[in-house]
Amino acid sequence: MAVRLSDHVFAIPVVDRETDLFESLWPLDDGVNYNSYVVLGSDGAAIVDTVHESFFDEYLSALREVVDLESVKYVVINHMEPDHSSSLRDLLEYLPNARVVISKTGATLFNLPGDVLPVGDGDEVSLGDVTLRFIMTPWTHWPETMVTYVPQDGVAFTCDLFGAYGAYPDLKTDDWDGYLLEARRYYVTVLSKYSNFVNSATGKIRSLHPKILAPGHGVIYSGDSLNQILDLYDDWSSEHKEGRVLVLYGSMYGGVFSKVDALVAALEARGVVVDTLDMSREDWSYAMTFVLGADIVVVAYPTYDSHVFPPVRYFLETILDKGLLDGKPVFVLEAKAWSGAEQKIRAILGDRIVDYVSFSEKQPLGVDQIDAIAERIASYVYSDGS
Ligand code: FEO
Repeated sequence: MAVRLSDHVFAIPVVDRETDLFESLWPLDDGVNYNSYVVLGSDGAAIVDTVHESFFDEYLSALREVVDLESVKYVVINHMEPDHSSSLRDLLEYLPNARVVISKTGATLFNLPGDVLPVGDGDEVSLGDVTLRFIMTPWTHWPETMVTYVPQDGVAFTCDLFGAYGAYPDLKTDDWDGYLLEARRYYVTVLSKYSNFVNSATGKIRSLHPKILAPGHGVIYSGDSLNQILDLYDDWSSEHKEGRVLVLYGSMYGGVFSKVDALVAALEARGVVVDTLDMSREDWSYAMTFVLGADIVVVAYPTYDSHVFPPVRYFLETILDKGLLDGKPVFVLEAKAWSGAEQKIRAILGDRIVDYVSFSEKQPLGVDQIDAIAERIASYVYSDGS
């Protein structure tokens, strides 16, 4: 159902409660929105982004409630990922007078249907009494991504930027704290790899002084919620730290867990806030939200086939690739069986490792040593560790 946002803008949210994993990777415990928008001007209309093609019939009928399809002059594709663009071909069948607007990069990268209008930074098209301005925000998820802005109403259509998992049929939430966790989970799974670009795009959007942020997933932001999401994006995309220690561990027979338990107690005795995640059981997307806020990450595992325990190893490779360990020191605690994996963990983590300690049945780790490790780790929460 359409929701009016301003004088010229309507939102067309479609709620997907059927897909279990976003990108076949990240759990959708409570669905996800695909938000499309309609801009109505005195000289024609525009549609900004579409929805996943599985919901095309529902989408088309909601569009028809607010716009005469023959009046649509432009379909703007801010981002070509199928959750936002896969209805485009079907939609164009109903839009006899529409051109497809996409960034110049997008026009180069993709075969698009219809009459394509490539645009650059600051380009505008007119709908009479209202204008669409295109702001290039590359790598806010893919290289072609852009933001569309309606200056007369102060509405910025930001696509993946400021998105969140979860179902919001009326584009609102009555659980703001819970919502922000889903926005954070969206950030770490989709955008964190491109944090420098996200930071720059957030600055560009802030400089527009928008009244409304209208993302492709999640709720509409205005007033306090708008300021808060902009501030959070500034923080999250700037080697964010929240004064916490994160312990990522795996434990096959309980030996590593007993050391982790003792280490956590020693840290908490020093007033340090510790998050502890068992990587054999933790969902990666939720775990990644904890990595984002850590000052220092402790990685504890047993060797497995002379390598790092797989649930820890593959998670580390993923968060490295997502940029979530950038600027974060890592402390390694390894339980050796017949051989160690020091060279292998050093090959994965490189100079992020500030200390490596191993123990084994023949070389146990005593209480005093764990206390000394806790003291060293705690120093990273309150200082640069030097
Ligand atoms: Fe929501 Fe990158 O697509």
